[in-house]
Amino acid sequence: MQIKKAEFICSNTRVDKLPEGKLPEYAFIGRSNVGKSSLINAMVGKKGLAKTSQKPGKTQLINHFIINDDWFLVDLPGYGFAKTSKSNREAWEKFIRRYLTHRDNLQCIFVLIDSRHEPQKIDLEFCYWLGERGLPFMLVFTKADKQSNVKSDVNMSKFRKALAEWFEEIPKCFLTSAEVKSGCDAILETIGDINTR
Ligand code: GTP
Ligand code: MG
Repeated sequence: MQIKKAEFICSNTRVDKLPEGKLPEYAFIGRSNVGKSSLINAMVGKKGLAKTSQKPGKTQLINHFIINDDWFLVDLPGYGFAKTSKSNREAWEKFIRRYLTHRDNLQCIFVLIDSRHEPQKIDLEFCYWLGERGLPFMLVFTKADKQSNVKSDVNMSKFRKALAEWFEEIPKCFLTSAEVKSGCDAILETIGDINTR
C-alpha cells in the first residue's frame, strides 16, 4: 500500500471522545519503549508524526492518525513502565482496556515485542488477555537491526511456542526495524488486505 497522506487527528483517554468509528482502525500496543511510535513513523514515512523518546513512558494518550483519508492508525501508551505510580498504571489499564474492548471498528491490534529478548511474561499475559476476549491481534517484533536475524528468529520462535500452549492458531508475525524501515511494507500490505475484505 502506498501512503499518500498521514495526519494526526486527536489524543484522548476517553472512549466516548474518540473520532467517529466509521473507518477501519488498527492499534499499536506493547511495552513502553518497544518502538510503537517509531514504527508508526517509519510505516507512514513521516518522522515526528508520532512522538518518540529514548525514555519509556512517552506516549500517554490514545493518539489517532488518519491514513490516506481511509483508515485510522492508533498509537497507544506502553505497558509495563516500572517508574510510573501504581495509580497511573491502574488508570492506564482502565482506559486502554476499555478502548480495546469497546472500539467496534478496531480491525486488528498489533502487539509489539522487542525481538532482542526472550519471551516476557507481561507480553504473553497481554496476548492471553486479548485471546480470552476474542480480540484480533498480530505480533510485531521490533528493533531487528539491533542484532542478527538468527537471534531474532530464535526469540520469535520461542514466543510462538509459548503462545502455542494457549492458542490453537498462532497469530501472524512480522519482524521489523523502524531504524532501517524493514517489515513496514508487510504490515501495510496486511492492513490493505483487511481493508478490502
Ligand atoms: P512509549 O511511548 O514510551 O511506550 O514508547 P514507544 O514504544 O512508542 O517507543 P518509541 O518509538 O518512542 O522508541 C523508543 C526508543 O527506541 C527510541 O529511542 C527509538 O529511537 C528507539 N527505537 C525504536 N524503534 C527502533 C528500531 O527499530 N531500531 C532501533 N535501533 N531503535 C529503535
Ligand atoms: Mg510511544
